[in-house]
Amino acid sequence: MEFPTVRPRRMRRTPALRAMVAETSLEARQLVLPMFVREGATEPVPISSMPGVVQHTRSSLKAAAAEAAELGLGGVMLFGIPETKDATGSGAIDPNGILNVAINDVVAEVGDAIPVMSDLCLDEFTDHGHCGVLDDQGRVDNDATLAIYAEMGLAHAAAGVDLVGPSGMMDGQVGVVRAALDDAGHTDVGILAYSAKYASAFYGPFREAVDSSLQGDRRTYQQDSGNAVEGVREALLDIDEGADIVMVKPALAYLDVIRRVRDAVDVPVAAYNISGEYAMVEAAAANGWIEREPAILETLLSIRRAGADVILTYWAAEAARLLRP
Ligand code: PBG
Repeated sequence: MEFPTVRPRRMRRTPALRAMVAETSLEARQLVLPMFVREGATEPVPISSMPGVVQHTRSSLKAAAAEAAELGLGGVMLFGIPETKDATGSGAIDPNGILNVAINDVVAEVGDAIPVMSDLCLDEFTDHGHCGVLDDQGRVDNDATLAIYAEMGLAHAAAGVDLVGPSGMMDGQVGVVRAALDDAGHTDVGILAYSAKYASAFYGPFREAVDSSLQGDRRTYQQDSGNAVEGVREALLDIDEGADIVMVKPALAYLDVIRRVRDAVDVPVAAYNISGEYAMVEAAAANGWIEREPAILETLLSIRRAGADVILTYWAAEAARLLRP
């Protein structure tokens, strides 16, 4: 019997040794908290498929943003749920629309203490639930949608946002928004581009979170799950168009895409740990099938290891608390 001369276990003996050789870090500043704000809400409304996540009132949103800043999170990402929806999603560009007033509220509350980001997409605002407007045959009209995205970007910028997050997967959306912002003098407003965004079954709980009215699917604009080369292409196109950060979404079923994008670009890479990924862990933990807190941290660490610099996650605040020394 020969004994091993090479012993990787040596570096695993104590927590301090393991910490010294840890390859991947997980820190509050790398985590962005997505939050929902519901027009007209007087109490936070729980989202049943996302235990622990709510549709905020304007005032509970401000408090949660202040807390996110205190925790040292990397940012907050805001989604609005309007009281009424229409075919063109007009609530999205109305300065008094819920998302625009909420951006204003949050920026007034936190100032420069934490970056404030906004979802730049029409799906929360349209009565048909698509991310763009429809043509006379019911197809999502790319270029007509771009004109509205440009206006939406200006509305968010006027409300004081730090970064807009175009998430509708229309071709050219980053370039159009960048040009509109620059023409209006908003050269400091950044773009976090949802670049490689896949048509995913894991968005399920988000549809409840934003009271989505979508029938059918988004397969004519979001990517097919099997396409990784195309994900890199989308990221490169967005950088060409002016993206400051590119994002892969979802995260867990696309860790390889995160890695490929990280290796291909020279801007920060974000990944969105989406609603269904959150719900799966919460449901299994609620059943006693997995241990919740280690599962959360392992999930986030895996996304960091894959190459994400920034993670959008509904666990951001809780994880920041768990990570505090
Ligand atoms: C589009 C958007 C979606 C999500 C973020 N932005 C929904 C979609 O593309 O269908 C999903 C986020 C999640 O599931 O947590 N506005």
